[in-house]
Amino acid sequence: MSELRFPDNFRWGAATAAYQIEGATRDDGRGPSIWDTFSRTPGKVHQGQTGDVACDHYHRFADDVELMAELGLSAYRFSVSWPRVQPDGTGPINPRGLDFYDRLVDALLGRGIDPIVTLYHWDLPQTLQDRGGWVTRETAEHFAGYAAAVHGRIGDRVASWTTLNEPWCSAYLGYGNGVHAPGIQDPGAAFTAVHHLLLGHGLAARALRTAGAGTVGITLNPADVRPADPDSAADAAAVRLVDGLQNRIFLDPLFRAAYPVDVLEHIARIVPPAFIRDGDEKLIATPIDLLGVNYYTPTYVAGRPDGAGGGGAFPGTDGAVEFLPPTGPLTDMGWMIEPAGLTRMLERLAADYPGVPLLITENGAAFPDRAGAEGVGADRTEAEGAGPVADTDRIAYLDAHLRAAHTAIARGVDLRGYLVWSLLDNFEWAEGYRKRFGIVHVDYLTQRRTPKASARWYQEVISRNGL
Ligand code: FCB
Repeated sequence: MSELRFPDNFRWGAATAAYQIEGATRDDGRGPSIWDTFSRTPGKVHQGQTGDVACDHYHRFADDVELMAELGLSAYRFSVSWPRVQPDGTGPINPRGLDFYDRLVDALLGRGIDPIVTLYHWDLPQTLQDRGGWVTRETAEHFAGYAAAVHGRIGDRVASWTTLNEPWCSAYLGYGNGVHAPGIQDPGAAFTAVHHLLLGHGLAARALRTAGAGTVGITLNPADVRPADPDSAADAAAVRLVDGLQNRIFLDPLFRAAYPVDVLEHIARIVPPAFIRDGDEKLIATPIDLLGVNYYTPTYVAGRPDGAGGGGAFPGTDGAVEFLPPTGPLTDMGWMIEPAGLTRMLERLAADYPGVPLLITENGAAFPDRAGAEGVGADRTEAEGAGPVADTDRIAYLDAHLRAAHTAIARGVDLRGYLVWSLLDNFEWAEGYRKRFGIVHVDYLTQRRTPKASARWYQEVISRNGL
């Protein structure tokens, strides 16, 4: 294969999220989050696993930063746990919670790694959920207060800020189909949550700007939505509907200060959109400097009157859309592998929402990694396998997606960097510990970290700034 070089100053990094790696859920005054509650609810998470210990990163962050430095990362995207910083989501700030992020930022900077902070990666303080969570407008206001508090402590050293991670998941999986915390199944609540998440983003972005933050952005998981049959008008209509519910519902208010008319009509068929108040869309469109995109897999749909739809994850698509089962080689998540979808998505964002630089804030794959002869299974309970993990399937996935990203750059997309998901094997939400996304293997019994072959491969990519 040909050699590819990335632009000078291209950022190479890795991403994680607080609840997935930190553990220490009861240390130093942290309050409970909706994921603590949800993971303790029988039947919600694989084998009832929780983030109580996870990768114990809270206590091992210094070693983890050393590992990042060894791999040559120039950027590290982590999330701040809201209930660690503000146990009730409103009211008193917990300085000991902020101490942790203060130390982490210093450790990163000390090794020349640029911290990229995500303020909300799904771990809402339980107290706020008890008051309605993202269905309640006040949550958006509390979020801005929390954002300002975090900036007040580490804003002197952190240049890059991301408000939300994948609000599509928070809203539709949290309140629509209930697969994620807080586990609510109510299509109207899902749309209400979309709006309040976006409002929270706008209010936080404004607060961060006022406080002097350098780069402010948001991370979405835009879908590359494809028709089953490119020549079918019915399939094109299905694409438009699904694109509206996953992409334009976020992108249009963010970059055009208005929800799309067809999406508003769709919402109104499910819930009166009285929660959208005058001025909200303008706030949501507070200018941002960077759009983070997470990409894993494409979405194929067909227009069918008897289509099962996407359930609560795509409210109102039943009787209109059939989501096609994934085909071809799949990852351990059952996700289809289609690197061209990344190129298409980046080009589409650049064309339809021009002027904002893009950063791939997540891309990666779970595979049933085998270590040594014994193999490393997936769960917390099994003994450690011997030897490094030869994850050639992950290397192939990453290589193909980096080539796809490079194609987009060559076609003029302003892509600033790539962050692999994830640095470490971690708590994969409802899947618990059985899905491994890390380029570094974690033995959950000993907390030993072992770079997989993909980590060494990535190290080489970074040092060459190319493939
Ligand atoms: C994304 C999440 C991230 C991780 C990956 C696999 O949707 O942002 O936390 O779970 O999927």
